[in-house]
Amino acid sequence: MTQSLGYEFFNRYDVGDTPEEFIDAADKFTEMICWYESAIKEIRTKLEVLNAEFKAKKSRNPIETIKTRVKSPMSIYEKMERRGYDITLDSIMTSLHDIAGVRVICPFIDDIYSVAEMITQQDDITLIEKKDYIENPKPNGYRSLHLVLQVPIFLSTGKRMISVEVQIRTIAMDFWASLEHQIHYKKFKEDKVEIVEQLAECATVIYETDLKMQSIHKELFSVKELRKEYSARQSEYEKMYINKCRMEKLNGHGRDIYT
Ligand code: GTP
Ligand code: MG
Repeated sequence: MTQSLGYEFFNRYDVGDTPEEFIDAADKFTEMICWYESAIKEIRTKLEVLNAEFKAKKSRNPIETIKTRVKSPMSIYEKMERRGYDITLDSIMTSLHDIAGVRVICPFIDDIYSVAEMITQQDDITLIEKKDYIENPKPNGYRSLHLVLQVPIFLSTGKRMISVEVQIRTIAMDFWASLEHQIHYKKFKEDKVEIVEQLAECATVIYETDLKMQSIHKELFSVKELRKEYSARQSEYEKMYINKCRMEKLNGHGRDIYT
């Protein structure tokens, strides 16, 4: 099966009649994959920079983990075939937006939107598509924010814009999606309605937990901010008091206070 699909791939993808033509076509395919790998590196670096800056300013990371993958030739072929597209490099590059995939796992729901905002506002990034499966979850319970971004990569021949699919979700949403994917992978029958229902129920419970964790975090964060503000104000008052005492001492009728 795998082998026949493989042959099919080479039959449909124009690899030429001679060894030279074959090598040329294979090299071009490899070059295309290299562009997608480069686009992933660009996006990863942007995310890492934003994460480090956020950490420096707010003492915590909005990104827990970044996972990346380039779609395998077989998956590219299967998707093109399923959609009835021509299997040429041009057609692959214009039809598929998820050859390069980046998954960003965040601690809290708010972080998802902060990360999305921070990356899409960069002036070399073009937002091609946005699907908010958090506001509008899939019927099975799937939640994530999906963005298709175009990022420039700089080659010896010049600049090229490459599409990258970025999926942003919480740790909890990722937990659900990973297990749901594994269950699908085992190909349970869709007519097992109770399994579908149970998975959707789990997704709801997980989402409610996400909301609770976020509100606990917000509460703790605001207490921390208040404490910071209070201690800043207190040291202001202390400074004012010391200055007052110094002035009184200079005027010859103050108490003897020094720090
Ligand atoms: P394709 O891009 O062709 O897959 O179709 P689409 O654009 O309608 O899909 P979408 O952008 O909604 O989702 C694409 C990717 O999101 C998938 O390849 C998965 O990684 C993830 N995804 C979407 N729906 C589900 C789901 O129900 N369960 C899990 N585990 N992952 C999902
Ligand atoms: Mg898609």
